[in-house]
Amino acid sequence: MIKAANIMLAGPAAYTEAVSVLKAGGLVALPTETVYGLAVDARNEDAIARLYAAKGRPAHNPLIAHIFDPAEAKEWAKISPLAQRLMDIFWPGPLTLVLPRKAGRNLSALAGAGLPTLALRCPEARWAQAFTAQGLQGPLFMPSANISGRISPTAAQHVAEDLGDKVDLIIDGGPCLGGVESTVLAIEGETATLLRPGTIPAEAFAPHISSLNLPEKAAKPSAPGMLASHYAPRAKVRLNALEKRKGEAYLAFGPSNFADAQLSLTRDIEEAARNLYAMLRELDNIPVKAIAVAPIPEDGLGQAINDRLRRAAAERP
Ligand code: TXA
Ligand code: MG
Repeated sequence: MIKAANIMLAGPAAYTEAVSVLKAGGLVALPTETVYGLAVDARNEDAIARLYAAKGRPAHNPLIAHIFDPAEAKEWAKISPLAQRLMDIFWPGPLTLVLPRKAGRNLSALAGAGLPTLALRCPEARWAQAFTAQGLQGPLFMPSANISGRISPTAAQHVAEDLGDKVDLIIDGGPCLGGVESTVLAIEGETATLLRPGTIPAEAFAPHISSLNLPEKAAKPSAPGMLASHYAPRAKVRLNALEKRKGEAYLAFGPSNFADAQLSLTRDIEEAARNLYAMLRELDNIPVKAIAVAPIPEDGLGQAINDRLRRAAAERP
């Protein structure tokens, strides 16, 4: 049984309510241009602890601080010239930068997982201006609004299904435009490392970064939350499937005689990214033993889609 969640349609009344819930230390699910996030006031340690508990998120997995204005970044992190250039070009937008923390300004030991770095993102979202206008200071810590390890939500209803009874308010802004999470880059001086492929394809950075280290080539392991199985439905996931086997549901990419769901009939990779999580959820709810997924090309957003699918298919802990 899904408990009725407090859902409000995006708009001035919902934003006012969100501000009062956040100021009181509550948990608010918010639409972003990537996926729905679960926000708390970054200065409220109790709210942060409740956020970890609600998601069942391991304490070693740090959170992204979401700011409302790119100019705020320098309050919390050291900004190299490369970081500044990327912020000027891609913010507000679906890019997260992992930067050296500024000494004496640590927002929360808990949310930082003891790292010397801080992940910062300035989302493109209508609520950001409304929150600022109502005197709510950023940042907000905001992971994706799903149970840890499961599929990220791209609609308010997904949040209600997963976390309805644990969230104080869900703002319904319709389906997310991106469909996969923000791209995460770690910046050290003039060096950038791709920690998580995401809504901005790696190719888009080529004109702005002299060399982008890919995760395989990086000296350090990638983002703490990126190692284990993640983004997983209950059903097993079989990749690069050209046929549908007994007990499977088939997730197609392009014309197919046995599609149970279709990422994009015209093989449009952006449409596929927008549909990915909703369709994995839909097939998982049937329920089936396994979800077989058609091969997806690696270009553009295909990199992020394949990254999520590989994690969804990975051995479960
Ligand atoms: O699109 C997004 O980024 C969404 C929306 C809601 O903004 N948020 C999101 O947050 O995906 P989350 O917590 O689900 O994923 C954040 C990722 C995790 O893999 C985490 O380990 C990594 O970023 N991360 C956070 N802080 C980090 C840090 N200091 N160093 C390395 N990785 C970090
Ligand atoms: Mg997440």
